[in-house]
Amino acid sequence: MILDAQHPLSSGLTADSRLIQAYQGTRPAVTPVWFMRQAGRSLPEYRELRVGTRMLDVCLDPELASEISLQPVRRHQVDAGIFFSDIVVPLKLVGVDVSIVAGKGPVLGKAVRTRADVDELTALDPTLLDTALAPISAAVALAVSQLGSTPLIGFAGAPFTLAAYLVEGGPSKDHIHARTLMHAEPEAWAKLMAWTADVTGRFLRAQVLAGASAAQLFDSWAGALSLADYAASVAPASAAAIAHVRDLTYTVRGAGDEPTDRNVPIVHFGVGTGELLKEMHNIGADVVGVDYRVPLDEANRRLGGAVPLQGNVDPALLAAPWSVLEAHVRDVLERGRTAPSHVLNLGHGVPPDTDPDVLTRLVSLVHDVSAAD
Ligand code: CP3
Repeated sequence: MILDAQHPLSSGLTADSRLIQAYQGTRPAVTPVWFMRQAGRSLPEYRELRVGTRMLDVCLDPELASEISLQPVRRHQVDAGIFFSDIVVPLKLVGVDVSIVAGKGPVLGKAVRTRADVDELTALDPTLLDTALAPISAAVALAVSQLGSTPLIGFAGAPFTLAAYLVEGGPSKDHIHARTLMHAEPEAWAKLMAWTADVTGRFLRAQVLAGASAAQLFDSWAGALSLADYAASVAPASAAAIAHVRDLTYTVRGAGDEPTDRNVPIVHFGVGTGELLKEMHNIGADVVGVDYRVPLDEANRRLGGAVPLQGNVDPALLAAPWSVLEAHVRDVLERGRTAPSHVLNLGHGVPPDTDPDVLTRLVSLVHDVSAAD
């Protein structure tokens, strides 16, 4: 499906931005940079807005969700906004009893442990989301209208990461109940994954249709899986989630050139997924997000030298002396030069106690160093 003419990719507003160029595999003159979890607790202006409001209520308030998405763009001059929301928002909207507990994360009213639990959960109809997602679409449209030529990235949780919360009932270190269900009840597992893919895919598609210029699928907890389990029991559902946005295209008309159709770029990211990088690309992603454990030149080698990369500054170094962080960022940029293109990011999210001035300084360092190369 072709995005409508007002979409910032179709209108040309964001199509030539550094971020979209790099996601499309062309290296821009200056390396683009944004940070996972840039919108949120590291910013005093976020903490001020959040006083007295629950996380999921903020996500469903278009004015607040839009404003929080814009805060880091204004402050740090990053090359993209990420939409402020959470991976469990579509679960909530389809009728799952889920809340976000401060300092802990998503917590379910009832863990989904058995075949009967899966049947009960999957009786909730994902098509309900087409109307329930209205506040999300409104928030994206509002943010995009104020971002101008800076692209907004939409996101969703991958089916495994969402299933890990659903089955465990909350955060977990090893996701052991999820991995047990995968093998003990393979049919129930497949049903759970297919349902989750539908729910999260609709959430992602709504964001792109409302104006997001790229989409990122977060499989934060996929690193708990063996390559064999990932390939057999998880990757098909991630591909199904991505299929909800994979058909979306826009037309680029360069000066004098024939118009060309491009896909909305899709990024796939996981933590501790060094062994899974190739499979994570193969599900239909354009760009692979790399955590801080695998250097970018090695990630590029594992991906055959043909895939744009995003990453992978170690978040722990944000609190180290500037000279240590600077040397690390220069090294990341250098290794990123081996890939077809590179978007600088962290290897996971911004830690809540990060000094925001360090992030602002890091953005100018990335822009200055890459421009001088
Ligand atoms: O700036 C951004 O990146 C956009 C906003 C965003 C949030 N969650 C806001 C949020 C994004 C992209 C997410 C994705 C998300 N949520 C993931 C995938 C990315 C990752 O970090 O691995 C996961 C696993 C979740 C689930 C979740 N929600 C966790 C682990 C937490 C943190 C719990 C805590 O308090 O330590 C949440 C809550 C959450 N999501 C917060 C924010 C800003 C904190 C809420 C608060 O301010 O109290």
